[in-house]
Amino acid sequence: MSKPLENKLALVTGSSRGIGAAIAVRLAAEGAYVLVNYSASPERAKKVVDEITKAGGHAEAVGADLGSLDGPKTLIASIDTSFGGKFGGHLDILVNNAGTAEFGPFLETSDQSYDKLFNVNVRALIELSKDAAKRMTKSGWGRIINIGSAFGEAAPMPGVTLYIATKFAVHGFTRGLSRELGATGVTVNGVQPGPTNTELSPDDNGPAAQAMKKLTSVGRFGKAEEIAAAVAFLASPESSFINGENLTVDGGWNA
Ligand SMILES: NC(=O)c1ccc[n+]([C@@H]2O[C@H](COP(=O)([O-])OP(=O)(O)OC[C@H]3O[C@@H](n4cnc5c(N)ncnc54)[C@H](O)[C@@H]3O)[C@@H](O)[C@H]2O)c1
Repeated sequence: MSKPLENKLALVTGSSRGIGAAIAVRLAAEGAYVLVNYSASPERAKKVVDEITKAGGHAEAVGADLGSLDGPKTLIASIDTSFGGKFGGHLDILVNNAGTAEFGPFLETSDQSYDKLFNVNVRALIELSKDAAKRMTKSGWGRIINIGSAFGEAAPMPGVTLYIATKFAVHGFTRGLSRELGATGVTVNGVQPGPTNTELSPDDNGPAAQAMKKLTSVGRFGKAEEIAAAVAFLASPESSFINGENLTVDGGWNA
C-alpha cells in the first residue's frame, strides 16, 4: 500500500532535534524524502538522518544558519541538488519549524536579541515560504506549515515579549499567505504547540515549567511526536480543505 507522502520532497527547518526532529522522522515514515536542516550540530542532524534511513526512509542533512541573512539562500540552493537532483527543483512540503527564544524582562533585552529572534523566527520563514510558494504554485500542489506557538495568540505571562512578537508575526503571515495562495493548490497552515518537552522549554521541574503545566488542562507538557502528528495531517492530501488555520496542539492551554 502506498504511503500518503510517497515521493514528496519535504524541507523541515531546525530538524536536528526537538519538535523538528520528530516532524522529520514522522514525514519520512509517511513516505516523504526529507531535508533535515541544522544550524550548529551536524552530528545531531546525522543521527536524525540515520534514524530515518534505518527505518527504510529517505533523508539528507543540510547545514544553514537561519539567523544569518545568507542562511535561507543556502537552504534554498540545497533543494535543487538534494537526493542527486531527483526532484528537479520541485518542493512539495515546507515546514518552518526553526525557532529560538529568550526569556527575561523586555527592558533588559539587547538589539542583538531582536535581530536574532526576528531573523530566525520570522525573516527566514518568510524568505523560505516565498521561494517554496514559487516552486509549489508551478506544480499546483504544496503544503507550507509554520510552527507558531500558544504565545502567538496571547501573552499569558511576562518575560516572553519578543518571542511573543515573533510568533504573532508567524500566525499573521500564515493567514495572509493562505489568502494569496488558496486557489493555486498550495495551502498554508500553522501548528501552534503549547508547552512541549524539548531543549527550548524550561526545566521540567522548575517553577516556570510547573506554572506552564497548570495553564494546560491536561496538566503536562506535550511530546514532540504529538506536535509532529498534527503536522503530518496538515502535510497530507487529507487536509486539502484546510487553509489559513493555526491548529492548536496545546493540551488545552487556550481552551
Ligand atoms: N517547546 C515548546 O514548548 C514550544 C512551544 C511552542 C512553540 N514551539 C516552537 O516549536 C519550534 C521548535 O522548537 P523546539 O521546542 O523543538 O526547540 P529546540 O530548541 O529543541 O529546537 C529549535 C530548533 O530550531 C533550530 N534553530 C534555532 N536557531 C536556528 C538557526 N539560527 N538556524 C537554523 N536552525 C535554528 C535549532 O537548531 C533546533 O533544531 C520553534 O519554532 C518553537 O518556537 C516550541
